[in-house]
Amino acid sequence: MTQDIAPLEQLTPQMLGPTSLPVLAVVNQKGGVGKTTTAINLGAALAELGHPVLLVDLDPQANSTSGLGLNPSRARLTVYHLLTGECTVAEAAVPTGVPGLQLVPSQIDLAGAEIELASMSERETRLRKALATTPEGVELVIIDCPPSLGLLTLNALAAATQMLIPTQCEYFALEGLRHLFYTHQLVRSNLNPKLEIGGILMTQFDARTTLAWDVLNEVRRSHPADLLKTLIPRNVRISEAPSHGQPVTQYDPTCRGAAAYRELAHELMERSR
Ligand SMILES: Nc1ncnc2c1ncn2[C@@H]1O[C@H](COP(=O)(O)OP(=O)(O)O)[C@@H](O)[C@H]1O
Ligand SMILES: [Mg+2]
Repeated sequence: MTQDIAPLEQLTPQMLGPTSLPVLAVVNQKGGVGKTTTAINLGAALAELGHPVLLVDLDPQANSTSGLGLNPSRARLTVYHLLTGECTVAEAAVPTGVPGLQLVPSQIDLAGAEIELASMSERETRLRKALATTPEGVELVIIDCPPSLGLLTLNALAAATQMLIPTQCEYFALEGLRHLFYTHQLVRSNLNPKLEIGGILMTQFDARTTLAWDVLNEVRRSHPADLLKTLIPRNVRISEAPSHGQPVTQYDPTCRGAAAYRELAHELMERSR
């Protein structure tokens, strides 16, 4: 289903037109690290601050879609149709329960798209082309990536201006980061010379454990400039919110999890100045 990263080395450099908006790819090849949680809650926090966001659910598991209260099987147009060129972003985007947050939904068909894409022309840059026009008023695009470095994620990295890397405080975190930074270099030299590291975000941080602090200190030592100051705590309200179809900022606006995602929105706005 997914494709190994190696073929990327064989790509010819392509000069691509500049992306006019900041596009944040929330990426990590590992599942369960908080990509979807970050995509939804950062999107909601930015929208709340008055910055309209378009969230693109690029994962066939469609967790961003269902986590925002939409039924993936009812979506008429999805990111699949966007990648195959059957519709525009404006046609696929739907409003969510959060004012200022629009979503391009996903559905399970997208798993097949990865295979179809393999035989299509310009297979790595289809999302980038589609995102050249975004709905009016949108200030920022967030892409929720699947947990692999296959063609779908490559489409996200080709379209993105920045990679936001959620990382769990666990023993193999640094291994995963090494792989992602290698991917960053490959994509920059072959596909998207403008791709920057938007930041490493430590998620599900449990301040009571020594391991959490050890991993945080390791990441701080190895990637001092890229580690974001905001720590996302392990917070039960964050994990409950998707089953209510809401971001945590709406589900429990005053909880620690909501505050952390608002702080992240502020930090990323500051960094982009
Ligand atoms: N800060 C957090 N505190 C508690 N649970 C979290 C937190 N972040 C994520 N989770 C939970 O962990 C699981 C995996 O998160 P998810 O965002 O879906 O990861 P990914 O998209 O990387 O696979 C989900 O059940 C989610 O609700
Ligand atoms: Mg996910």
